[in-house]
Amino acid sequence: MRVLGLETTCDETAAAVVRLKPDGSGEILADEVMSQIAAHAAYGGVVPEIAARAHVEVLDLLIARALEKSGVKASELDGVAAAAGPGLIGGVLVGLSAAKGVAVAAGKPFLAVNHLEGHALIPRLDGRLAFPYLLLLASGGHTQILAVEGVGEYVRLGATMDDAIGEAFDKTAKLLGLGYPGGPAVEAAARDGDMERFALPRPLLGRPNADFSLSGLKTAVRHAAMSAAPLTARDVNDLCASFQAAVVDVIEDRLRVALGLYRQRGGSAKALVLAGGVAANAAIRAAVSRFAHSSGLPMIAPPVRLCTDNGAMIAWAGIEKLRLGRTDDLAAPARARWPLDPKAERARNNKA
Ligand code: KG4
Ligand code: ZN
Repeated sequence: MRVLGLETTCDETAAAVVRLKPDGSGEILADEVMSQIAAHAAYGGVVPEIAARAHVEVLDLLIARALEKSGVKASELDGVAAAAGPGLIGGVLVGLSAAKGVAVAAGKPFLAVNHLEGHALIPRLDGRLAFPYLLLLASGGHTQILAVEGVGEYVRLGATMDDAIGEAFDKTAKLLGLGYPGGPAVEAAARDGDMERFALPRPLLGRPNADFSLSGLKTAVRHAAMSAAPLTARDVNDLCASFQAAVVDVIEDRLRVALGLYRQRGGSAKALVLAGGVAANAAIRAAVSRFAHSSGLPMIAPPVRLCTDNGAMIAWAGIEKLRLGRTDDLAAPARARWPLDPKAERARNNKA
């Protein structure tokens, strides 16, 4: 089984071809990613209209390249998948329309993949991670802890009430003049910093629910930066290290509560999994790994290249759906919002 996957929900344009091997694992035959970082850098964040146009400009080329590198012709594909949301709607429409076009032209099944499901399922690519598992999904737009029971079966145990963790990294970087995207820049600066220099808050620490709140931490970084101004390179490193240490503490505490809630309900996760762009962070990977082992669970995180947005995760999620016979209609809409656990979303809205 071979599936083409397209990703255009944010600022990476990506096309990949993944093959399902007889042993149940996946092999990435081609994985083309073109980042739009340069196009957005001047604005300190992603500009939706620029993103959508940039996807239009390069997607055809990336699809052609992915097919060529994989040695698979469109007529030899078993399915064509695209991230149908959640994300910036202009970009989502570009990838979704292109995938539908290829599917129709080649006469192949079409798969509308939830971008978050791509992050949630790519850790299964090596064929060794079985359901159910506990997942911390942390990216630029989302932060949630989910019980992953199966393909399409997600129970949300907690989520951020304000900023996503990746967003907090991005905003901290912007504030400190480290540019965009912020995660890798903050992590690099933190490596040379003193994490005990600034006493920053650990929001929601010890709370009995597994939610996150990052906006207070972000504000505390701003105040600390203002009182230390003018900032030297050393100040910036220390602020980054102190910020990252606070995030690490919060993640560990929230995971502890989530695992407790999950086990109380009789859940029997086989692993603790970390996914999404933030999972590229070595300090966070190490902390989650420590916590997992202390809880008697193996910790699994995809290779760094598969943590940030890519086409392979969309192709793989497409394979996971296709092998269950869950193909989609060509009328499948582009969705700006698309929760993995609609029940949790409804409960949250009712509360608000
Ligand atoms: O999953 P992703 O590529 O795109 C979204 O779906 O949002 O995640 C991007 C986010 C950005 O906020 C970026 O700053 C963050 O992941 N990120 C990191 C690191 N690499 C990427 N955050 C912390 N440390 C990193 N090394
Ligand atoms: Zn993502």
